[in-house]
Amino acid sequence: MNEMENGAAIRNGTAWMDNSGEPIRAHGGWMLQEAGYFYWFGEDRTDGKKVSCYRSRDLYHWESRGAVLTLASKASPVYYRTSLALVMVDQEDNGFGQGAVIERPKVLRNERTGKYVMWMHWENGRNYSDARCAVATCDTIDGEYVYHGSFNPIGHMSRDCTVFQDSDGSAYFISAARDNADLLVYRLSDDYLSIEEHVKTLWPGQYREAPAVMKRNGIYFLVTSACTGWLPNQGAYAYSDSLTGRWSQLIPFGDTTTYDTQPAFIVPLQSQGETSYLYVGDRWDPSHYHHSSYVFLPISFPSDKELKLEWADRITIDLTTGQIEPQLTPSGLHRIKSCGTERYAAVEIGNGGNAKVGGHILSYASEAQKWMVEPAEEEGYIRIRSRTDGRCLAVKRLSDGGLLRDELFVLEGSDASGCSEWLMDDRNAESGVLIRNRTTGKVLSAGFGTEDRRNAHIHVTDEVEHDPRKGRDPQRFEILNVY
Ligand code: GAL
Repeated sequence: MNEMENGAAIRNGTAWMDNSGEPIRAHGGWMLQEAGYFYWFGEDRTDGKKVSCYRSRDLYHWESRGAVLTLASKASPVYYRTSLALVMVDQEDNGFGQGAVIERPKVLRNERTGKYVMWMHWENGRNYSDARCAVATCDTIDGEYVYHGSFNPIGHMSRDCTVFQDSDGSAYFISAARDNADLLVYRLSDDYLSIEEHVKTLWPGQYREAPAVMKRNGIYFLVTSACTGWLPNQGAYAYSDSLTGRWSQLIPFGDTTTYDTQPAFIVPLQSQGETSYLYVGDRWDPSHYHHSSYVFLPISFPSDKELKLEWADRITIDLTTGQIEPQLTPSGLHRIKSCGTERYAAVEIGNGGNAKVGGHILSYASEAQKWMVEPAEEEGYIRIRSRTDGRCLAVKRLSDGGLLRDELFVLEGSDASGCSEWLMDDRNAESGVLIRNRTTGKVLSAGFGTEDRRNAHIHVTDEVEHDPRKGRDPQRFEILNVY
């Protein structure tokens, strides 16, 4: 079933299909609105395709318009010096499809020439050493684009990129240069086909990727990710009253993984004189690019210069009112987040069905991170039951070479001794609670191992007074509703 249509809500981070039941392949993408349609362009890394296009009237149902740029696209040079190669000699399929790698395609309509102009990131298909941008054009929005070649803008590296068309028709190309250290803003020529001038260097040395720009009430906002490859990180935004003038410092938005996304683009939705703004992010799957998904979230503005992004598992979009509404129906499930490590308790089923508990990076799709919090027999105590295998967090006492040691495990059924009963204690809490075991009095605690800082381990320890000079309290947890 198409998860986008289910219950007329858009379900974030699930597999989204087009009208013919095929996965929507439009990562690192872009949307343009024309004649009552949203056109969604993005990366398609299947069968020699480079950029595919979909269209929709309602942002739920997407009709594939096919690949608009492929290895077989016509190529023609324009007046500046470029390389026309989309395929490299001796090239093997590297798992990302053949030929050049095309990322983050963006399309603008040039009012003077009537042409649709696509800007994108070009790499040779073997590695990311070329760092070029590339340009293609078409007479219609979703026709066959003619490829005009790739180049280094004014000699600079050019990696993650976006475009912005201002209300006066001037357009800008923004891309990461100097091995991602700087974000450069270039003004495009009047026909949008070439770079006219490097007009601004944003946040030099701060290594930003995935830029997307929007304008609201005369204020420009730029959202961007940090630079951690396919892994999500804390997004940040900045604002300015002039694209080429002074920008604010970067301010964090969303959560520490931007809800497990990297910005792709922002769509302004206009209706009844009001504009709302839809954030579109890619939720990359670093081990299987083709399992990556999408997230649509409403952006809100607490004030003219503040941008806010909040998570919602599902949203609805009403295009007649322009309302983007999060669907907040509690599911009875919870995520348990360690304040100390910012990792989420997840049940890990090992070989032979053994289970233990780890602290994982937030993954909204992961059922292993969802827990039912139920009242236990003893008044005031709770049980914490895993959604995936139905077992409860419990403590067992082991004798280890004569030493007694308490171990966290997941317990089948319930135990009269109270070893799976816990007390949530928020005594003196600035944030989070202590989760104390009824039989042993030990508390849950999270910590990182020496090597893998992606995941944390969760265990039980004696409660100790926390010294804030050592960082955040490893014994504190937040219990968050899953919607
Ligand atoms: C990301 C970037 C993606 C892609 C990826 C490759 O940081 O935003 O567009 O280039 O790295 O590792």
